Amino acid sequence: CGIVGFIGHGNVQEVLVNGLEKLEYRGYDSAGIYVAEEKGKGHLFKEVGRIAALKEIVDFELPATVGVGHTRWATHGAASQQNAHPHQSSSTRFSLVHNGVIENYQQLQAEYLSDVVLRSETDTEIVVALIEHFSKTEDLSTKDAFKRTLEVIEGSYALGLVDVENPTVLYAAKNKSPLLIGRGEGFNVIASDAMATIDVTSEYVEIKDKELITLTQDAVIIENFAGETVERSSYVAEIDASDLDKGAYPFYMLKEVDEQPAVLRRLLQNYQGDDQQFAFEADMMKTLLASDRVYIVACGTSYNAGWIGRSLFEKLAKIPTEVHLASEFAYDLPLLSEKPFFVFLTQSGETADSRQALVKVNELNYPSLTITNVKGSTLSREASFTLLLHAGPEIAVASTKAYTAQITLMAMLADALRAAKGFEASFDMERELSLVASIMESILAEKAEIKAWIDANLMETRNAFYIGRTLDYYVSMEAALKLKEISYIQTEAFAAGELKHGTIALIEEGTPVIALVSEETVGAHTRGNVEEVKARGANAIVISMQDVAREGDTFVIPKVETALSPLVMVVVTQLLAYYTALGRGLDVDKPRNLAKSVTVE
Ligand code: G6P
Repeated sequence: CGIVGFIGHGNVQEVLVNGLEKLEYRGYDSAGIYVAEEKGKGHLFKEVGRIAALKEIVDFELPATVGVGHTRWATHGAASQQNAHPHQSSSTRFSLVHNGVIENYQQLQAEYLSDVVLRSETDTEIVVALIEHFSKTEDLSTKDAFKRTLEVIEGSYALGLVDVENPTVLYAAKNKSPLLIGRGEGFNVIASDAMATIDVTSEYVEIKDKELITLTQDAVIIENFAGETVERSSYVAEIDASDLDKGAYPFYMLKEVDEQPAVLRRLLQNYQGDDQQFAFEADMMKTLLASDRVYIVACGTSYNAGWIGRSLFEKLAKIPTEVHLASEFAYDLPLLSEKPFFVFLTQSGETADSRQALVKVNELNYPSLTITNVKGSTLSREASFTLLLHAGPEIAVASTKAYTAQITLMAMLADALRAAKGFEASFDMERELSLVASIMESILAEKAEIKAWIDANLMETRNAFYIGRTLDYYVSMEAALKLKEISYIQTEAFAAGELKHGTIALIEEGTPVIALVSEETVGAHTRGNVEEVKARGANAIVISMQDVAREGDTFVIPKVETALSPLVMVVVTQLLAYYTALGRGLDVDKPRNLAKSVTVE
């Protein structure tokens, strides 16, 4: 979920709704805003579905001075109008937006709110009801009632609160979930990220966990729970608003797929050092070199990239590397080596599962690196080191350029570690990566061919498989995720050799099985597995690399260095997913049930 709040001079509704549009990547099940124009005069607008639907019902003419907004990714309760935020206390005096999950909401309800009739099924309504409860029963000011509530709620939250009895103040607080303050002339804002309000201000202040923020049009007061005022300087967020424009592209995903060669080149430039070596922070290199094992922790597409990273770290730099799902990691900690080093891969830097794992790593006092696309993001702030992907904002929910950027960056890092350890290079990383960028371009020039092929092969199917071995298997994992998340075709990735041990039972007449073959030794075995599925009626499709291509392969990709093959193989599969979803008439950028960044565990 994403939240935004505004106080002061300006068109409140416009800032809130524009902000929510930018935050839609955090969820788009329902959305709402609450604005107040003067004491006792507030207005609530909520709608199921996209921000576009909310826009239709908001009255932009109201002379409001304060407001909060929310876009939701449903956790507690279905995506309905009732469950949409903002939530209000029973008297409607207090209106609240919330990103996160309150874990003890049922206890709190039983303890304090047994006589309150609730309108929704959300944990958030409990929070706003508690504020009213404490304000009434303990005769507290709004600020004190808010603070009293923050002291009893447990879990993750970013909160924005309006009291219609005092519409010159906006309150905010956070724990675990991200929230920033934006400062303006005659107004102040709060937002889940700086992108949401970059149109109105570029000056931001961080909020830390367990602080209470009071905003008026001219002032921002940050206090800790002990009531002490905290001074914190602001920083300038560097976001180029024009990056957010999709230009002539019908969908962001296609734009982002097309940007990949440029992103790769930009990375090469950004990490270029002297003597044809890649340059990374000396301190980080020292810590990494002193460690005996790398643990890559991530979710979703980033997790899939992690497997390629593992191969690069092990093969090039000879550092034992493991890959872990963030959501499992913190709760089922693997037996750690003596000197572990943790790498968090996260496009957004905000994923709650990954953040939870980082919190655990920090508790244990181990060094960590966040590889992220978002400067100043939560995971970047909280890890020992950060490497930026420089991929520009990734807006489409289905990640593409961040995946190839993560792999590129890990390849450069693995190469730098190799050099630092004094191992001979088996190829020139910089030259090979430049070649990859050019070959990506040549694949991207074949879109029409790929589209035509899809129309004939994937459009009608209910399910599909990707198979491959070693690196091709890891790419298959990402290829399958891409296809299923945007086209809703049930697609599974299988290690080619493993398919026959059970899953082959699912192969029917015409089932598409897409095999990735980029390398000779394992490729020969994968081709054997292709024959097995063909014999059982599958519609087998082979995507291969030039040196190992055979007559009849569906797509042949120009040769690149084997260790870097995922960077080009994946591009074909991204296009397969894109054109399938497009052909099925789906919203490519915003697939159902998903969010770009899942900020709850
Ligand atoms: C969400 C997105 C995925 C993404 C995952 C991890 O589930 O829908 O596309 O891969 O989060 O995101 P991160 O920002 O941590 O890479």
